[in-house]
Amino acid sequence: MMAAATGDEYVRDSVKDYYGKRLKSAKDLKTVSCKTTPTGLPKPVREALSDIHDEVVRRYYGCGLVIPEQVKGIRILDLGSGSGRDCFALSKLVGENGYIVGIDMTDEQLEIANQYIDYHRDKFGYKKSNVEFVKGYIEKLTEAGLKENSFDAIISNCVVNLSPDKKAVLREAYKVLKVGGEVYFSDIYCDRNLPESARKHEVLWGECISGALFWKELFSLAKEVGFSTPRMVSVSPVPITQPEFKEVIGDAQFVSVTYRLFKLPETKQPARQVIYNGEIPGHETELKFDFAVTFKKGDLVPVDSELSTILDSSRYKEEFEFQPAGKMCCSPTTKMELNPFEYMEILKKDGKLPAPSCC
Ligand SMILES: C[S@@+](CC[C@H](N)C(=O)[O-])C[C@H]1O[C@@H](n2cnc3c(N)ncnc32)[C@H](O)[C@@H]1O
Repeated sequence: MMAAATGDEYVRDSVKDYYGKRLKSAKDLKTVSCKTTPTGLPKPVREALSDIHDEVVRRYYGCGLVIPEQVKGIRILDLGSGSGRDCFALSKLVGENGYIVGIDMTDEQLEIANQYIDYHRDKFGYKKSNVEFVKGYIEKLTEAGLKENSFDAIISNCVVNLSPDKKAVLREAYKVLKVGGEVYFSDIYCDRNLPESARKHEVLWGECISGALFWKELFSLAKEVGFSTPRMVSVSPVPITQPEFKEVIGDAQFVSVTYRLFKLPETKQPARQVIYNGEIPGHETELKFDFAVTFKKGDLVPVDSELSTILDSSRYKEEFEFQPAGKMCCSPTTKMELNPFEYMEILKKDGKLPAPSCC
């Protein structure tokens, strides 16, 4: 158990110790939280992941897929990049003109990641690497030298739950993102506010469980910081079965969810209709934007003001034709604030998530 000291510094030191000294590979993890394996990946993503060096893959501790679409040529920041698996995969996907920065606070993790920069540069045939790893805290991105308004996207895989100050993480992410940029991240969420006793368990904190947010809190934090409503991309179960851990967490349930949140311009676009052009590599017939919205190539889709603004201000703009709102009775993007645990139950029963019904 964590000792009396529970300040932010203590929590971060304990996590550094966990990822720097205690874990040597994913086999050392005590729970399934940091080793989920997503399926149904688009071909370019599958290929990029298969190019990653084995040593980097062995030290991958992620809980979801954090590779968004349409990344050619963009600048991406990875919060808590670890041994760099997602950074190297994205290095290939953004191409030589894109750029990836990974930030992590743990020397041992940074050392592994830095060791494989040249390997992946050669593998992808780049003259100069387009990946850089920076030492620093995800709660203090600007202090670590990252410039405001300088990234098109931020990813993070099973890290925000380890932070003792999640609002600071979102606030800093908002600062370094360009307008129209997004945070596309996977994290562990809880179905309740955990009691203090569960919060102080050192191993469960290191395993991304004790620091998990009550899912509703993400929505209020995102709003306070200025982001758009979090849009759920995927959800998977994180069962905690070991009796010694169950004793600590009681009936609390956990899921891993990938959400996307956008930094939007002040001026919002009206609700409109849009047509996807089918030109994003790996998404030629349809673009699954989140669990509720899939754009099929050539189909006219009504979008509410928020999604209309997201598409208009982001890297997706050129991929859509925008038309005035028709006679839509409702947009498929209503009711976004959904309980991922309810959806998890439906997923277990029916095998797939239903899109919210419209009209
Ligand atoms: C569960 S691992 C995930 C690593 C990587 N994203 C992956 O998918 O393999 C968590 C990583 O986040 C880093 N980390 C945790 N809290 C951090 C913080 N407050 N600031 C910077 N890095 C942090 C740890 O050092 C560790 O490398």
